[in-house]
Amino acid sequence: MKNSVKFLLAVVIAATGWTRIEADTTSEAGSKTSGEVSLEGVVTARSIMGETKGFFFLQDDAGGVGVVMEGDQKDLPRAGYQIKLTAEATDKSYLNYKAMELVNTNANMPRLTVVRDASDAGAVKDALGKYAVVPGTKFEGSKFKGGEMIKIATSNAKFDAVTSMPLDGYSVPQYDFNFFGVIASNDIVGGDGSGNILVTTRVVPVSASETRKFATQQTCFTCHLVDKKLVGPAYLWVAQKYKNDPDAISKMVEQIENGGMGKWGPIPMIGFKGRLNNDQMTELADWIHEMRWELILNE
Ligand code: HEC
Repeated sequence: MKNSVKFLLAVVIAATGWTRIEADTTSEAGSKTSGEVSLEGVVTARSIMGETKGFFFLQDDAGGVGVVMEGDQKDLPRAGYQIKLTAEATDKSYLNYKAMELVNTNANMPRLTVVRDASDAGAVKDALGKYAVVPGTKFEGSKFKGGEMIKIATSNAKFDAVTSMPLDGYSVPQYDFNFFGVIASNDIVGGDGSGNILVTTRVVPVSASETRKFATQQTCFTCHLVDKKLVGPAYLWVAQKYKNDPDAISKMVEQIENGGMGKWGPIPMIGFKGRLNNDQMTELADWIHEMRWELILNE
């Protein structure tokens, strides 16, 4: 495993754009000690690390680089943005920021989460710069604490997860997830220097696939898609609407059973009363409700 190179300690700088960035020095940009460097790629992860510090992972053709920025949070590029970053290399392990150009917002790309391999074992090891899947991951503990690390585990490895949005107070989901992402070195999130991180590009509940098949059989997809409007609303929008509603399941079961209109527009949905029993409707409502985690964790 290629260990990554050290970064200088953060220096707090007035909030007027960037003044300095720290890039993973295993990359081409980091190996230069003078002259101009240019990095172009897609931001596949983003995390605010404090008032004047943020992290993003810029995936480029060479695999990608982790970038820690100092400056104004509002200048931290969003996940999905395709950006071109120009900087002046220094003989230290940081770059002096010159300019950032937004090439494309890639608005439809999912938002991200950063995961650190605490055990240094399992799927994340020895795979720097590669795309990886960590299947069957479970959150440990009962509640999220906003912005803090939380333990997650698979059958053979343990990880620390950092989410880019405060999740304070949310109960952790009880089911398994598949994490998809790119492996980067750990130093870039200011960790203890050991292990790697999985910069996730998507977090998907495992249970989704079976119920999805069932929903397809029940013709739900003739009017609904997961992320776009069709005749009815995208399921992700429904999940968004009921994200914090304790009665979400019963309200959705009501809609599935009896149909309804006016909540999303003038087109009615016909109910499935007599065609689906209560357990089946609850399963479908649960499945839609679960999608909120894709929103919450990837926000
Ligand atoms: C013939 C088209 C059609 C089919 C088939 C259909 N829906 Fe809908 N669905 C709609 C429309 C239209 C709306 C928006 C209704 C409104 O504005 O109140 C909707 C809304 C919903 C909502 C949101 C309810 C809310 O409270 O906001 C849920 C949940 C839902 N559908 C689930 C399902 C499920 C599950 C299935 C399959 C069992 C299904 N739908 C099949 C057209 C359909």
